[in-house]
Amino acid sequence: MQKNKNNLKQLIRAGRGITSAHTVVLHGSLVNVMTSEIYKADVAIYEDTIVAIGDVSDYIGQETKTIDATGKYLVPGLIDGHIHSECSKLSITSFAKAVVPCGTTSIISGLDEYISVSGLEGLQEVFKEAKASPLKVFWGAPYRTPYTFPQSTVAFNFTQEVHREVQKWPECFGVWETVREYIQEEDDDTLGAIEEAFKNRLPVFGCAPMARGKELNGYLCAGIRLDHESYDHEEVVEKMRNGMHMIIRESSVTHFLKENIRAVTEVNPALARRVSFCTDDVTATDVIEKGHVDNLVRLAIAEGVDPMTAIQMATINSAEAYRIDHLVGSISPGRLADILLVDSPESFHVEAVITNGRLVAENGKLNYALKAPARSSVLSSALKCAKTTKEDFEYKVDIKDGQAKVLSMNVKGPFVRKRRDVILNVKDYIVQPDTEQDVLMVSVLERFGRNGNKSLAFCSGWKLKKGAMASSAAPDDNNIIVMGADAADMSIAVNHLIENGGGQVVVADGEVIEFLSLPVGGIASDLEPEEIAYRETLLTKAANKLGCDLPDPLMYMFFLPITAIPDYAITDVGPVDCIALTTFEPVLELTQVK
Ligand SMILES: [Fe+2]
Repeated sequence: MQKNKNNLKQLIRAGRGITSAHTVVLHGSLVNVMTSEIYKADVAIYEDTIVAIGDVSDYIGQETKTIDATGKYLVPGLIDGHIHSECSKLSITSFAKAVVPCGTTSIISGLDEYISVSGLEGLQEVFKEAKASPLKVFWGAPYRTPYTFPQSTVAFNFTQEVHREVQKWPECFGVWETVREYIQEEDDDTLGAIEEAFKNRLPVFGCAPMARGKELNGYLCAGIRLDHESYDHEEVVEKMRNGMHMIIRESSVTHFLKENIRAVTEVNPALARRVSFCTDDVTATDVIEKGHVDNLVRLAIAEGVDPMTAIQMATINSAEAYRIDHLVGSISPGRLADILLVDSPESFHVEAVITNGRLVAENGKLNYALKAPARSSVLSSALKCAKTTKEDFEYKVDIKDGQAKVLSMNVKGPFVRKRRDVILNVKDYIVQPDTEQDVLMVSVLERFGRNGNKSLAFCSGWKLKKGAMASSAAPDDNNIIVMGADAADMSIAVNHLIENGGGQVVVADGEVIEFLSLPVGGIASDLEPEEIAYRETLLTKAANKLGCDLPDPLMYMFFLPITAIPDYAITDVGPVDCIALTTFEPVLELTQVK
């Protein structure tokens, strides 16, 4: 992607037709997202760059390769405007195998979970891995790590000092996911990251669910350019009227497109050019079954958006929002040659994918063997924490027998936890979880060898009748989270992860019944996407057998440490009241039995 005087000279000559093209794409219909036109046009490519569109016969030399696009529509490669690829548990290589054949050729990502577990060294390895894949990663430097309030423990703390260095890197295209609470609280590192971005003229990306009125104004005055989280279309309209670019999110667990797109279909069609798409968190199963950004294009069309507009939302709009439209987002000279061959703009099925001028995928599969790099110890998944015993997961109080009134975090959808007060029995100084009342124990254990923190609290909504489940992938910190009806099984689950270097596990009656290894930083795997999807299904089935009826039991669990969402969370420093932004004591009252 780097341009220098030498390769610019080559490109200028190729553009002027002095040098022959390496590849031409012939006989297709060009979907020109710049002018909202569709017309017959060929494309000439020199190395990885588009050098001409239209009649390219003068660009064809003896060595020029031809890609036949007869009957197909040429669409720019799709852009996911905000994604944590790590949440899919697929390494960047495996993620590319899953999404590139669907037409996603660029993602905007903070790669923040790799940073949380392996710092800048790990990040450099992931950059290298991405460059060897057909997927482009436009990286935003996380505004800070950790994202939590109060501050939890991660392997690497991203500060203003770090921003001063990394914002100069060629991979850096902005500041990633600046969470509203940190602006509101005038956090020093967050404002420092923005200060550096102003100096470097980089855009600042936002994350401000439910920011309205004065809170929105305050947030915008910090210089935030765009947002990817709005709970309804009125919020979308308000943010857009106040100058934001909106990235509509349709993830595997939160489905906002149908509601948010009403801003365009019902309120004002003119908003469309400043709306784009993202998936934020996706599972391998979902990508295999439904597709990726291509699916969002189809969903938008189904909601009444005209096909050209929907395609613009998935391409040029994102590119402009993130100020990368000189590189990607359209099929025009000077842009990187990321081109899709699509059956029709209306039905929008991606049949072939060209990235960097090379045909890399046909009929839903990469057409070559993409191998993951050898993994170094930097991205090792070794969990640096001590083995546990069942006592670690027993909530001790200072009455021997009686009752405890506790605040249980009750899951109401993947990103909402509400207060539920319940009365639990106390036996031998231990507050007992109660499967009849759907109250389990939940704990987060620091795993980077920094302080050995462990927290313990109560949760509801998972309905496990017995056993436990644990995961070392748990955004945003990726400490170990474990939940269960039985302290001994919780301990076995955590110890299994420690012994096996990270992953996800379901345990019952003292036995491991399902385990998925995540050897890349304890958060991702190089397995094929289909294999991960299959293993996810096995984990879900194992949790279902224990009584859980949530659509994705482990994913619902692994979002529990996120403190940026209402009303409760748990990190290694304790259970968190996300409104008051403090930890809290989950046992509210004790009554001793005489
Ligand atoms: Fe995000």
